[in-house]
Amino acid sequence: MVWAITHHDTLQELLADPRVGKNAQLWTTFREGRLPEGWPLLNFVTVPGMVTADGADHRRLRGLVTQAFTPRRIAELAPAVEARAERLLDGLAGLEGEFDLREHFAYPLPMQVIGELLGLDVTQQDELHELSDTLVSSSATPQAAIAAQQGLFALLGSVIAAKREKPGDDLTTDLIAAREEGDRLSEQELVGTLLLMLVAGHETTLNLITNAVRALLAHPDQLRLVLDGKATWSAVVEETLRYDSPVGQFPLRYAAEDIEVGGVLIRRGEALLASYAAAGRDSGHHPEADRFDVTRAPSRHLSFGHGPHFCLGAGLARLEAETALRGLFGRYPTLVAADGPAPEPIASFVSNSVRKLPVRIG
Ligand code: HEM
Repeated sequence: MVWAITHHDTLQELLADPRVGKNAQLWTTFREGRLPEGWPLLNFVTVPGMVTADGADHRRLRGLVTQAFTPRRIAELAPAVEARAERLLDGLAGLEGEFDLREHFAYPLPMQVIGELLGLDVTQQDELHELSDTLVSSSATPQAAIAAQQGLFALLGSVIAAKREKPGDDLTTDLIAAREEGDRLSEQELVGTLLLMLVAGHETTLNLITNAVRALLAHPDQLRLVLDGKATWSAVVEETLRYDSPVGQFPLRYAAEDIEVGGVLIRRGEALLASYAAAGRDSGHHPEADRFDVTRAPSRHLSFGHGPHFCLGAGLARLEAETALRGLFGRYPTLVAADGPAPEPIASFVSNSVRKLPVRIG
């Protein structure tokens, strides 16, 4: 039994409820070995790291990387993010006719930024992206899911081996140092943490930039407000997070005790799915929830999560998305969606965006 939590207020309450945990051992179906062989989301719910840990374990694992995401560290990254965005925007000028904005702009920017933070070799980035796409897919075949997991662990293993040999000025090297200093991090947690940083650090921001551009092109009046200085890029980012959450749903949480919420009894050992995209459209919380409105009073969306697992990279994601949008529409204010059928959604209930975003410079 899995409960999808789709109402904003209920979701907010449960995300901060100490009776709800993230360690899969709390889940009766998992503990009793009743999941089907090759279940595509198995990696997702068992990867060793902060995202599947509770209490002291969670604090230990999260504490190892928080230093890299303080507001000061994020502010220091701003010039580098800006420079990367500018270089990618230069590249768009050379593309003729229609092109896929997701592939040529929304993907490489966050991938290059997280790649540099983690000290990844640029030649490995596309392969890591393809494997991580399969990991967040909820429709991958069991064979593909297992192969993606093995591929990712093998690649990240080789990254760790290379950094052990030749340390750098990056988060991977810092995590290896923490591993080697004592019992602060197991080898499996080291790989799991890198995997989490890689996947969380680019798939989500890629979706945010894609979804924001798509919403602005579909609502030219809203784009005009920003270009005329009547609304900010920050407001566009926040409204996109609410209107079209980059993380559709996040698997899984588990009731450690019986919990009664909204007149419903969630029994101990049952699983909960945080339905962020649905909560953003909850008209009980957001008036006219289906309207994309960049002048809305700051919307208290939950799209970066809430409670102890609140997104560690929220500041970085906001910086990247604002820089990307300001740069893109500053340089190409005549950008339009290409003619043709509506773009297809990604086949995933975790990752919420479209597979391609065909555009042209009008
Ligand atoms: C956690 C969303 C970007 C790293 C989360 C969660 C959400 C989220 C909803 C909570 C998951 C849950 O427990 O239900 C997003 C969105 C992003 C984004 C929408 C971009 C638009 C990033 C970036 C990074 C990052 C850029 C790192 C560079 C993390 C980590 C966690 C997390 C490490 C786990 C925190 C924990 O378990 O304590 N994110 N994220 N995220 N995010 Fe993000």
